[in-house]
Amino acid sequence: MSIDGSGSGLAGAAFSSKTRSTLCAFDVFYFSNMPTTDGSQEKTLAALGVTQPEQLTALFQEIRARFDAEIAAVHDEAAFKKFRDAWLGRKSGVLSGITDNWLKPATPELKRAVGAGLNELRAHADSQIEARRAAIESGADEFAVAKERVDLSLPGVVRAIGSRHLIRQVFQEIEDIFVSIGFSVVEGPEIETPYYNFEALNIPEFHPVRDDMDTFYVEAQSAGGAKTAPGSLLLRTHTSPVQIRTMEKRQPPVRVIVPGKVYRRDNPDATHSFMFHQIEGLAVDTDITFCDFTGTIEYFVKQYFGPGVKTRFRPSYFPFTEPSVEFDVSCIFCGGSGSGANGATCGKCKGAGWIELFGAGMVDPAVYGFVSYDAKKVSGFAFGMGMDRLAMLKYGIDDIQAFFQNDVRFLKQFP
Ligand code: PHE
Repeated sequence: MSIDGSGSGLAGAAFSSKTRSTLCAFDVFYFSNMPTTDGSQEKTLAALGVTQPEQLTALFQEIRARFDAEIAAVHDEAAFKKFRDAWLGRKSGVLSGITDNWLKPATPELKRAVGAGLNELRAHADSQIEARRAAIESGADEFAVAKERVDLSLPGVVRAIGSRHLIRQVFQEIEDIFVSIGFSVVEGPEIETPYYNFEALNIPEFHPVRDDMDTFYVEAQSAGGAKTAPGSLLLRTHTSPVQIRTMEKRQPPVRVIVPGKVYRRDNPDATHSFMFHQIEGLAVDTDITFCDFTGTIEYFVKQYFGPGVKTRFRPSYFPFTEPSVEFDVSCIFCGGSGSGANGATCGKCKGAGWIELFGAGMVDPAVYGFVSYDAKKVSGFAFGMGMDRLAMLKYGIDDIQAFFQNDVRFLKQFP
């Protein structure tokens, strides 16, 4: 019975209207992989209302049409076996059903015609099933071939290729600028000892600046299970420890920049993140002056933001530089005027005309003592720039979190 009661089974399309009316009570929906027939072979001819040999012709035609429709959907071994059993199975196969229910109880007038129809159907089924088996076994089944055929006229599959993260791109930009004036790029570990992160940078244990750099101490475990002492390892709070590591390994002249990740116990907001990026710079030689220092910074800032920007420095304090300064650039949004488009106060520099960029200074002679440089012979400068901030300023990004959320809509804007 069809689901909607209309009697229009899918396979019913092949039926003649005459037999339709005979068989409609058994009409069913056919789905591929569901070898079945209309079940007419389970009724006797009398129950089907067949009394004349001519009626048998149509009946066998129906069965044959079903057989042909079903076998056309058989493309693999599993489906083949199911199909073969459904039709040729000794117990409940369709052909056995016809033998048992139509042929055996047939009236003498019908018996001959049923026998002839059955023989014809069996011959057809045997040859078709054998041909299908051979096709599936040889892999020559046209369906399988069609499935594997490559249509060369179709457009290719576009593989989306990612791009470098904006932070990486800005690292590269800044590295290129410094490399072009003789700096080389070095890196250092993100897990540091307090000695490199603090002490060797002239920040002794109870120095108040450590409060600002309160950070994540970590515990490491060796393969043997031994744990490091509490407080003996930390996630570096700045890239400055690599100043020390570099000077331990190299003699002046030293000119390096150090890109990398740093960590602080900051709560995330639009300008803070517990992990961010810095580029450290260090230049030490026998005759480096404050002029070399400001000239280098000015060159960098103009290369990075454009020739129109101005720089200024203000006194500041870091234990490992003396004198220490804070570098500012003229506001790149209002051109340093302090006022926005319609005369309103510039929201970015809050009317100051200047934007604070990074800390720097001449290397404090005390630091040379930690690396066995002769403080009487050498001098140098160092700086530490917040990469994320530099990227935000140049590319107009107002939330540092955007860098770390991996939202493709954001990342795609910087191909
Ligand atoms: N390390 C300092 C900081 O993270 C920046 C700095 C680096 C200052 C080098 C001076 C010299 O705040």
